[in-house]
Amino acid sequence: MAKKKLNRFWALILILNPIASLALGLWVFSLPGTLGLVRWDSFYRLLVGLVLSLGLWAPVLWVVGRLFLRKRKWLAKIWGVGVAALSAAILAFTLGAWGYLIAQPMLKSGDKPPVLLVSSHSGAAMPDLTLAVWTKTPQQLTASLGSETEPTRSILSDSGRVHRLLFPKLQPERVYTYQLEGGESVSFRALPDIALEGSKPMKVVFSSDVHYGSSKSSAEKTTRMMDQWLSRKDEIDLFCLLGDITELGFMDSDWQDALDSLSPVFSQIPMIPVIGNHDLLFQGYRHYLDYLHPEGRTSFEDLYRRVDIGPVHFLLLNAVWGTEDVSREQLAWLEAQLASIPKDHWKVVLSHAYYYASGSTFAGEPWYDNREMIRIFGPIFEKRGVDLVVSGHNHLLEVLEHAGVTYAVVGVMGAPLDTITYRSPASVWCRDVHGWMEVTWTAREATLQFFQWDGVPLFSQTLTK
Ligand SMILES: [Fe+2]
Ligand SMILES: [Fe+2]
Repeated sequence: MAKKKLNRFWALILILNPIASLALGLWVFSLPGTLGLVRWDSFYRLLVGLVLSLGLWAPVLWVVGRLFLRKRKWLAKIWGVGVAALSAAILAFTLGAWGYLIAQPMLKSGDKPPVLLVSSHSGAAMPDLTLAVWTKTPQQLTASLGSETEPTRSILSDSGRVHRLLFPKLQPERVYTYQLEGGESVSFRALPDIALEGSKPMKVVFSSDVHYGSSKSSAEKTTRMMDQWLSRKDEIDLFCLLGDITELGFMDSDWQDALDSLSPVFSQIPMIPVIGNHDLLFQGYRHYLDYLHPEGRTSFEDLYRRVDIGPVHFLLLNAVWGTEDVSREQLAWLEAQLASIPKDHWKVVLSHAYYYASGSTFAGEPWYDNREMIRIFGPIFEKRGVDLVVSGHNHLLEVLEHAGVTYAVVGVMGAPLDTITYRSPASVWCRDVHGWMEVTWTAREATLQFFQWDGVPLFSQTLTK
């Protein structure tokens, strides 16, 4: 009787093997970013395939034993014990891996220091800025905000963990000072409105792909670049960080690294972040939304949004590998937003994934001129008169042109550089060097300047309206 019960137990474990693997596979492929991972990286394609095939190993070995070892009883017994042990180990591994992946986006390592974000906004008025902070213990935070010509205002956050302290109705170019919880005074300059007469031009720095948490990233160069931007904070109005901020976005330790490093600079210079494939994977986007969405939204669809700064309009897309996770809703939204912008205004699209780009073959796939991205987005950009499209993902600096649209790739804020074995026919200038792009906007001109990590100017080009 006891033997029968034991046999039933092991039979159940054996049956659960393929069921658990199938369920894990369905769950993994229901997550944003997984299709892109297996599409673009043959190593992970193999790894994911191997893990998901585990559920079949023990049942197949059991069948082999039944077919070929019936007459050798002692061998069949040993075989049976081995298959039972293997099936238990595989089931434990599958459930353990699943639990680990589910838990990671919910585990937070500690408080996250403040960053100053530009709020989502469309319209003629200037966008508000938001101080984004995350605390492990639920609490209410207070900030005081003032300027030389305005009385100090007190600003309260919600009583939770995700804090968004809104700095509203800021006067363009005015210098403000804030104190968070009575701490150190921090000053920043409000964004300029280049539509106003006498406005200074708007200077925006673009870079991406630090991959915080990766031992292969060049932390020294990242720090050197950020030090230069901070020393020029009277001149730089805005920083756009185009994704792959972290190496493993589902691990909170990588976000802790990232925010500890970014906060000293970008609590003083306003920032617009965009999500990358490394940030998004295995629900890493939940950490990203907690820390870097200016309105503290929580849904995957909140990863694309619009920010208008006077007559310069930024459309932030959620395209991380390529078109794999781009929804019809997002495309319809992009068309509608672009159609609503006056013709003589600047239309700027930001996404992590690139369109036209030089590069090389990586893990068996062509990491250059992304055909699907060009096919889906190219006609929209051309029809709607997009002026500039800036991306990361490829770790190089490049400017390209196609059908009246200028493209730039800036994935060079610290991650290992890509080798360039393929030069895109659309390429105007390209270098495999760490650095950044700076764009200086007036109502009629946008000057693109590319810099090496130590501040050496590399290339410049002017767009006119
Ligand atoms: Fe990257
Ligand atoms: Fe990437």
